[in-house]
Amino acid sequence: MEIIKKINECKLIVNQLREKGYKIGLVPTMGFLHEGHINLIRMAKRDCDKVFISIFVNPAQFGPDEDFKNYPRDIKKDSALAEKEGVDYIFYPTVQEMYGSDHKTIVEVKELGKIMCGKYRPIHFAGVTTVVLKLFNIVNAQKAYFGQKDYQQMIIIKKMAADLNMDIEIVSGPTKRESNGLALSSRNKYLSVEERENATILYKCLNLAKNMIKNGEKNLEKVKRIVLGNLEDNRFVKSVDYFEFRDTRTLEEIKRVDKDYKSILAAAAVWIGKTRLIDNIIIKVEKQ
Ligand code: PAF
Repeated sequence: MEIIKKINECKLIVNQLREKGYKIGLVPTMGFLHEGHINLIRMAKRDCDKVFISIFVNPAQFGPDEDFKNYPRDIKKDSALAEKEGVDYIFYPTVQEMYGSDHKTIVEVKELGKIMCGKYRPIHFAGVTTVVLKLFNIVNAQKAYFGQKDYQQMIIIKKMAADLNMDIEIVSGPTKRESNGLALSSRNKYLSVEERENATILYKCLNLAKNMIKNGEKNLEKVKRIVLGNLEDNRFVKSVDYFEFRDTRTLEEIKRVDKDYKSILAAAAVWIGKTRLIDNIIIKVEKQ
């Protein structure tokens, strides 16, 4: 496994691999790898001849009061894990290498980046799409892998790739969870032991919504009220940014279950103490 820090060097290597006819897979990450990332790497290993991961904590996707500085980093552990999984290359640039001192271009997928998490993190998705497009241009892969825990991110990246006629397939991998249901996230590191135990309320509430819908409840405003009540009653939940039902493809808000929907995304962002956690599930709707 090779660690590449320079953009030009990375492009050169990718060009040589593509000339040999290799199929390249890219797993973009911000490091501090967990089972969710490992699963994406395994998917890429199955589909592709050569697998790149990128490790780059991207300042452009953090707001001024967010956790860019404190975001967990552990390149030693990450490279050992990646090597064990058979990753071929880690692209590991510095902020200076990626943005220089005169970076002016922003790529933005309009409306989709302003709803759900975008309402609370106004520059976040523009920062994500900008860096992801840069990564796609640097590691010219045929397939790129993203986790469903960041469902909105995955939809936005798919939309960017389609709108900009990009020759890359966006593949999504499932959310990995701890045995108690807590979705794996690098940010779980911020939680105290007590908070970590109580953070399962998020997944429990998503399942509560699922059960109500499976039991025939069609009024999603009612489901939302009940779920929000449950979240707000939990003393570890400092605040709820949102809990919403959305179309799984367009992310349009859904207020009522009707025969047009085969599946519905239930997604939420909550603050457990000082940590913002997101999670979602897809609810399959029975034939009406
Ligand atoms: O999901 C992430 O870890 C990041 O948002 C990504 C896609 C690597 C872009 O920085």
